[in-house]
Amino acid sequence: MAVDVILGLQWGDEGKGKIVDLMSANYDIIARFQGGPNAGHTIIIGDKKFVLHQIPSGVIRPDVINVIGNAVVLDPVILLKEIEQLENHGIDVRSRLLVSRRANLILPTHRMIDACQEKSTSAGKVGSTLKGIGPTYQDKTGRFGLRLGEIHSPDFKGRYERATERHLSILRAMGCSEEVDDAAWWKALDAISSLQLIDAEVYLNDAIKDGKRILAEGAQGSLLDIDFGSYPYVTSSNTLLPGVCTGLGISHKQIGKVYGIFKAYSTRVGEGPFPTELNDADGQMLRDKGHEYGSTTGRPRRTGWLDLVALEYACMLNGVDELIMMKMDVMNELEQVRVATSYTVGGFETGFSALAFESTEEVIPHYDSLEGWNGDIQEVKSYEALPEQAQSYIRYIEGKTGLPIRIISVGPERDQTIMV
Ligand code: GDP
Ligand code: IMO
Ligand code: MG
Repeated sequence: MAVDVILGLQWGDEGKGKIVDLMSANYDIIARFQGGPNAGHTIIIGDKKFVLHQIPSGVIRPDVINVIGNAVVLDPVILLKEIEQLENHGIDVRSRLLVSRRANLILPTHRMIDACQEKSTSAGKVGSTLKGIGPTYQDKTGRFGLRLGEIHSPDFKGRYERATERHLSILRAMGCSEEVDDAAWWKALDAISSLQLIDAEVYLNDAIKDGKRILAEGAQGSLLDIDFGSYPYVTSSNTLLPGVCTGLGISHKQIGKVYGIFKAYSTRVGEGPFPTELNDADGQMLRDKGHEYGSTTGRPRRTGWLDLVALEYACMLNGVDELIMMKMDVMNELEQVRVATSYTVGGFETGFSALAFESTEEVIPHYDSLEGWNGDIQEVKSYEALPEQAQSYIRYIEGKTGLPIRIISVGPERDQTIMV
């Protein structure tokens, strides 16, 4: 048995939560491999809405085991809140949630540094989620990190204090507040210390041997990857396929199907280049109809046309096998649908890397225009029943990417999904 993977192909919020929940009916284990509470994965079931930040999106299904991998960074306060919210809905979390002992902890002072860096003009604003993600990964790679598996060590409190001291000196140098309120953090840490901590790499490799079906759930999206995204306007983890191996401790030989998920248009939260961004009535329509407001921060998401330069780049980097297209219904009212097929900078054609380096010259997208379907597709249940123009849009993207679109999502609910 191999580990299948779902990866966001854009700047996050593609609809991973909905699809992982849907697909988890066919898997024994769902494993999150990177990121932290910067993620917000929404699952809508009837009148219930769940927004998961750190817990994998398989948690709603009672038989599914959910694993948090070593490259995830965890905020105990947010994790405890998530567990309690799910338990309030009658969902048993603790017996089915396994957490890697190697997952790094987000400290209150990591969040303070994140906020301080975002405020400081000299450091340059990324528009982070202010969850302490960047500073926590910095400490991990700097070898200062505190890991969940160390909380019972006799020296843990001392290590925490030394880390906090170091963070306070950073805050002091940046001229930011040094008042730490960590009572809630310690209380939450105590409450989550009874979670099942495991060597997730061993657990998952054993599960593979036992023939268990495993799905790895990505957070953020390919264009926010620390190495290949629109640097420096990215997150601090590896969101791409190799992150599955380093984030769960499995070999590349264990990777099965790679599903790439994208929206029928584009969105982005936070700062950074976005060539196909729309600052007009169509952009506002996409935001309103798509409820494009951050699941984690509530910030309005920037909206724009689908960007095939970026999408093809993400498919290449991840070795995507099959595509999943989300939120097609949001484009119901458009007479014309546009898709960027190339960029030029200073008159010369460039690839996605034009977004990873600051330039004085603007990246200009060039578009193909397709006829819109101009009708409601939210209740459509099959590819054949889609309007001809909607089918053309799907075929057009398949033609450009050379990949099949296997799932088309036409609404937030589980049953608003077309399997092709
Ligand atoms: P994620 O971070 O990739 O899991 O995505 P988010 O949950 O942050 O954002 C996706 C949003 O779109 C959520 O509010 C979903 O409920 C919603 N959604 C998912 N699929 C569809 C769809 O096909 N149509 C519509 N209209 N909404 C969708
Ligand atoms: P999901 O998993 C969309 C963005 C932030 C910011 C940049 C860096 O829900 O798709 P960070 O807090 O990670 O240091 O912020 O990355 N960002 C996301 N945008 N969806 C997400 O997660 C994101 N997680 C981080 O807005 O621009
Ligand atoms: Mg999200």
